Amino acid sequence: FKVPQPVNEPVKSYAPGSPERKELQQTYQNLKNQQLDVPMYIGHEEVRSGNKQPLTMPHDHQHILGYFHEGDASHVTRAIDAALAAREQWANMPWQSRAAIFLKAADLLAGPWRATLNAATMLGQSKNAYQAEIDSACEMIDFLRFNAKYMTEIYAQQPESSPGVWNRLEHRPLEGFVFALTPFNFTAIAGNLPAAPAMMGNVVVWKPAYTQIFAAQFLMQLFRAAGLPDGVINLIYVDGPVAGDVIFSHRQFAGIHFTGSTAVFNNIWKTIGNNLHLYRGYPRIVGETGGKDFIVAHPSAEAKEVATGITRGAFEYQGQKCSAASRAYIPANLWPEVKQAIVDDLKTFKMGSPEDFGNFINAVIDEKSFNKITKYLEAAKNDPEVEVIAGGNFDKSVGYFIEPTVLLVKDPTYVTMCEEIFGPVITIYVYEESQFENILEVINTTSPYALTGSIFSRDRYAIDLATSKLLHAAGNFYINDKPTGAVVGQQPFGGARASGTNDKAGSVFNLIRWTSTRTIKETF
Ligand code: SER
Repeated sequence: FKVPQPVNEPVKSYAPGSPERKELQQTYQNLKNQQLDVPMYIGHEEVRSGNKQPLTMPHDHQHILGYFHEGDASHVTRAIDAALAAREQWANMPWQSRAAIFLKAADLLAGPWRATLNAATMLGQSKNAYQAEIDSACEMIDFLRFNAKYMTEIYAQQPESSPGVWNRLEHRPLEGFVFALTPFNFTAIAGNLPAAPAMMGNVVVWKPAYTQIFAAQFLMQLFRAAGLPDGVINLIYVDGPVAGDVIFSHRQFAGIHFTGSTAVFNNIWKTIGNNLHLYRGYPRIVGETGGKDFIVAHPSAEAKEVATGITRGAFEYQGQKCSAASRAYIPANLWPEVKQAIVDDLKTFKMGSPEDFGNFINAVIDEKSFNKITKYLEAAKNDPEVEVIAGGNFDKSVGYFIEPTVLLVKDPTYVTMCEEIFGPVITIYVYEESQFENILEVINTTSPYALTGSIFSRDRYAIDLATSKLLHAAGNFYINDKPTGAVVGQQPFGGARASGTNDKAGSVFNLIRWTSTRTIKETF
């Protein structure tokens, strides 16, 4: 039960003048102007429905990257049929062969495919080169390599036997197909949601967010180039409710691997509950949803570290990480210095297209998102109780650009302290130094979510107090670091409460959900 020992893929820096920067820039330009025609992948077929929809760039929405072929209910049925047709052979394939396919995909991505996936993520999702690198290259590679190892750990789990009796566990794939419903914000999550169940011998229907199709289709091509048999993963572009109607009423529906909004996940959960009588068994429901991730500073904290935690934790990828800090609680003694450091730091953040590698801030994903975020900003700017410390401006004439914005509020229950915004906005509440313990209670009770959070402190008693008082307030808790950037194999990722089922992406806890174990007792 051994696969090559995984190590985290080293992050390339794309330093000015480096060969990797030149290659990425060239690939970006090539892809930008290729006008790709993007089919669905169902079984052995590349399916072109003829219903072509444009793929645009968030930072230049008039530029068309290509067209994808949108499917309808019939394509969902075809994808399920193709998955089920592939199921027996795939489920019976030796696990070493399944692992080899995904390990090869990781090696291809670490080498010749790296620039393509990074450029596609920069173009289609408006990530800067560094954010693309840690996502579509490093995290995706890590998911594939580490999951191969976790798979072997699951298969190695065997019970005790006794004289005359041999007990064993057979870690079977689920009976039916798995639905992977994937988000725009991480190419690696979009790839891992179908790949993890598939590695465990399941067959998958994969529906990415429309705003991530550009990179998703390259991932699909990568899996195929690595030898993934036809029908194991089927990639379709179909409107959510249309796909849901077919998937969730199918007798062979066996599980969903989801990352997206809490509202959508709640609807899916209810639908599955209502449809239970249609299925053969209880489907696995694995989902990572929203967040209202926090930073709390203790009066003993180092002000500059807190400020950097805020600017990096809140504004990398325009605040569109589910882990992004969006509320911060700063003690009055630190606030003047933290405020100054935030303002100084933000002056160095350039905003614009990822084509210019100097731009730290790019565009938010689409118009719907832009409108939602700026509605919060309009309301805040018109509220005399709210002070805009930095940013606050926005412009969608060329791309969906929103300045990194820091709001200061007098009320820790103000709307932007509690609701998920999913954009480059953080709200700060300054508390009296003596109120540290009370502020922990506020953090714990003013949002329904529990994904990530950070404490900054040099006082060990305060760290311990926060760690225990915030026991259920975050699935990923950081001490003296920003709350983003979990690394596969190092910080298994996921939260509870309204943030999901906490089945820790990039860990054995996630992979185990894609098996249904049979116990065999043989008596001699
Ligand atoms: N895993 C990512 C992070 O930790 C979020 O999905 O930032």
